Amino acid sequence: MKKIAIFATGSGSNFQALAVAAQSGSLNAEISLLVCDKPGAFAVDRAEMLGIPALVISPKSYPSKEAYEEEILQKLTGLEVDMIVLAGYMRLIGPTLLNAFEGKIINIHPSLLPAFPGKDAIGQALAAGAETTGVTIHYVDEGMDTGPVIASASVKITLGETRESLQKKIQRIEHSLYPEVLEELLNGNEEAVQWEKSVH
Ligand code: GRF
Repeated sequence: MKKIAIFATGSGSNFQALAVAAQSGSLNAEISLLVCDKPGAFAVDRAEMLGIPALVISPKSYPSKEAYEEEILQKLTGLEVDMIVLAGYMRLIGPTLLNAFEGKIINIHPSLLPAFPGKDAIGQALAAGAETTGVTIHYVDEGMDTGPVIASASVKITLGETRESLQKKIQRIEHSLYPEVLEELLNGNEEAVQWEKSVH
């Protein structure tokens, strides 16, 4: 069974969705570790509740990004992790991890990339008056939300939509799409995940 490390900074609801899918058997993988760069984040509480080990690691405690990622890499290597899944990890991945996990790091982003990359994609879509936004799962490269797209799902922005209502719609899709896409990737069915879904 493939071993996965999930990286999260905040609430960790996607981390939980992936962990529950793995524990229930709908995702054929072992979630070996949560890596969290923010001590006190709710993702760490979720890891404890789910019985998943967490590496809580503050970049500020390291002289460089390279040293910080080297520490993470050692832990991942020790656990024989096969793949890194970013789920709300608010940091760019540096060359240390990118080189060690080439083509094996994926991310989920709450917009239809390349629209609205970076922070607050939901707020950006509302501010732009967009009629449609969505969710994108993509491979990670050195850029900000720039790697090749694996799957996406679109979400209609309806009249009177608020940040909260839109976030709710987007997260509901994320929680089902991420485990589903990861399962296909782990089965080597990359072709099968060039999906596009539409949710109204
Ligand atoms: C998600 O909306 C994800 O798309 C983005 O960050 C958010 C993380 O939410 N990258 P959570 O921490 O999984 O609840």
